[in-house]
Amino acid sequence: MQKKDFLPAVFSGRVVQGRKIGRKLGYPTANLAPTKDMPDIPYGVYAGWTSFEEKHYPSMMSFGLAETVGAKDVSFEVCLLGYEGDLYGKDLVVEITVFLREMKKFNSLEELALAIKEDENQARQLLFSNLAKKILDQGYLMSLATQDDGGLWVSDLVYVYDDDFTVYWLSRQDARHSQAILQNPQAAAAITVESTIRGNDAGFQIAGKAEKLEGDMFEIAVKQRIKRGKEPPVKGEKILGKGESWYCLKPEKMEIIYKPYFGFEKQELKLQSPSIDKQS
Ligand SMILES: Cc1cc2nc3c(=O)[nH]c(=O)nc-3n(C[C@H](O)[C@H](O)[C@H](O)COP(=O)(O)O)c2cc1C
Repeated sequence: MQKKDFLPAVFSGRVVQGRKIGRKLGYPTANLAPTKDMPDIPYGVYAGWTSFEEKHYPSMMSFGLAETVGAKDVSFEVCLLGYEGDLYGKDLVVEITVFLREMKKFNSLEELALAIKEDENQARQLLFSNLAKKILDQGYLMSLATQDDGGLWVSDLVYVYDDDFTVYWLSRQDARHSQAILQNPQAAAAITVESTIRGNDAGFQIAGKAEKLEGDMFEIAVKQRIKRGKEPPVKGEKILGKGESWYCLKPEKMEIIYKPYFGFEKQELKLQSPSIDKQS
């Protein structure tokens, strides 16, 4: 899976009657009667977000000929994850953000259902991790909670992150939170993206194990300097000041808050299994 130039693409349309085979598969779909200004995208299976009546749902879409069920016409179908209800006659706005795979002719409905199950896993993982990245890219400070013999302590730190959502920061070794981590690695952090537009708040919460890292962590240092608006270091440059170290928090649990989509209902971001292809 590589990044596609034609994405994201937005469709809108009214839900019309389908063949109703989707229900049998365990994946009811909304068949869209596309409007004239439907973007020109290749046939395939995609993931994205569907909006209607001011609600937003993670979704997967199939666009093309459903040959497995003997379809003769091209259809555009949307499966809203977590939505149960009748969508006939509703106007949906569909934002397609990720290409998952080509449409295929399967030998049986069972095989198709298995493939769609895998599409669902991928769609959830990619959509939520892309959303988390969007939030982490906008945030600047992270409030890190640690615990030592004196009790709980919270520190605000400039963070950077990697593809596995491990967060990194640079601190003095004698700072209270740095000392606390040596005693008790269990830590939690919250990143908040405040918006001046009411209702657009977003955040990311993470709990896991923190640790002190050895060495300069050059790639991480480059990211951190750029984030702070400074010149990135050059190879061989001394990165750590006296008494400083890199630290990281590896996630065991992650939650996303994204008010425009989910109100204050938190969404859990599952830890990525190594078999799932990573994609932006
Ligand atoms: C995520 C997703 C992937 C799909 N992939 C395929 C596919 O590879 N080949 C195919 O023939 N149909 C595919 N379909 C279409 C299904 O065959 C279709 O949804 C089903 O026949 C139900 O259609 P109906 O509810 O309009 O009757 C896919 C549907 C979804 C939601």
